[in-house]
Amino acid sequence: MAHRVINFNPGPATLPLPVLETVQRELLDYHGEGMSIMEISHRSATFDDLILEAESRVKHIMGFSDDYQVLFLQGGATAQFAAVPLNLSREGKTAAYINTGSWATKAIKEVEKLGKPFRVIASSEDDNFSYIPTDFSIGPDAAYVHITSNNTIFGTQWQEYPDTGDVPLVADMSSDLYCRRFDPHRFALIYAGAQKNAGPSGVTIVIIRKDLLERSPKNIPSILNYKLFAEKHSLYNTPNTFGVYVVNLVMKWIQDEGGIDVLEERNRKKARLVYDVLDASDFYRPHARKDSRSIMNITWRLPTEDLEKRFVAEAKERELVGLKGHRSVGGIRASIYNAMTLEGVQRLVEFMKDFEKKHG
Ligand SMILES: Cc1ncc(COP(=O)(O)O)c(C=O)c1O
Repeated sequence: MAHRVINFNPGPATLPLPVLETVQRELLDYHGEGMSIMEISHRSATFDDLILEAESRVKHIMGFSDDYQVLFLQGGATAQFAAVPLNLSREGKTAAYINTGSWATKAIKEVEKLGKPFRVIASSEDDNFSYIPTDFSIGPDAAYVHITSNNTIFGTQWQEYPDTGDVPLVADMSSDLYCRRFDPHRFALIYAGAQKNAGPSGVTIVIIRKDLLERSPKNIPSILNYKLFAEKHSLYNTPNTFGVYVVNLVMKWIQDEGGIDVLEERNRKKARLVYDVLDASDFYRPHARKDSRSIMNITWRLPTEDLEKRFVAEAKERELVGLKGHRSVGGIRASIYNAMTLEGVQRLVEFMKDFEKKHG
């Protein structure tokens, strides 16, 4: 058995062990081809079968209807910050953004740079993004509404998605797609860099309602044009073939585990274990407000920075790695994506209690 630590990295992040084992087993000879998946043409029937299977799984696990199309793109979620306004802006309409953290801020910077009309209709910057705003109005002239469903850095997550009526709802779900059930048909477009809950970095999942494809103007860069990529089933140019392969394996793993509801129950249980320790303590200070807590990324501070450094160092001695918080919050962040096991979280919680006893 290979030596594996308990990996709380925010992304790229821990992947399900059975997925890695399949990759290892199939690496030299993919399905009898005598080549690895990295050496096969993206125009081959073999890769075609694979990408169609991946598309179908990405869609059906969440229950998206055939009104939606799945795209596998490159450039990470960051490319989507630009692709969304380039494709979805409309003459005479204004895009509405809700700013719930650093990634939302970056998405807003892109729409601003592109000179497309936009409005920030709500923000939680006034309290270092520790909550999800609930008080905003969208207005009938909105081209679309953009939200970040889970704020990886701050540890907050939308609990209920906003009702945008006929205005298309667009979500950056990079860090929580596939962590829980939601009604997919409330969304016009979802995008997610795969490297947290869905696979390796270098492949971005985009799920778009097909009627929106008609908005893509011809005069935008081809690499960011949804319509072009939809027409070619993501094969307009060479995709990240290895990335798509691993995403497909992760989707299969979700199905093998019993699907979204099973994962959601496990994710809620894992998150509860950590939040229970935080809530029972005066030593640990959670960053996110209770009504906005994420079940994927949990953030907290300790009384001093020195104790935070020690926490990270002592955790590492117990093979609990990747716990250092992002500099915008400081402190500790535990990223507990789908592939993080319940046992992994139990080991963290045991450590948290021991650390508090020793230093609290
Ligand atoms: C919510 C969210 N959006 C966007 C990004 C940026 O993604 P990428 O590095 O794939 O461009 C991240 C990365 O951590 C993220 O967590």
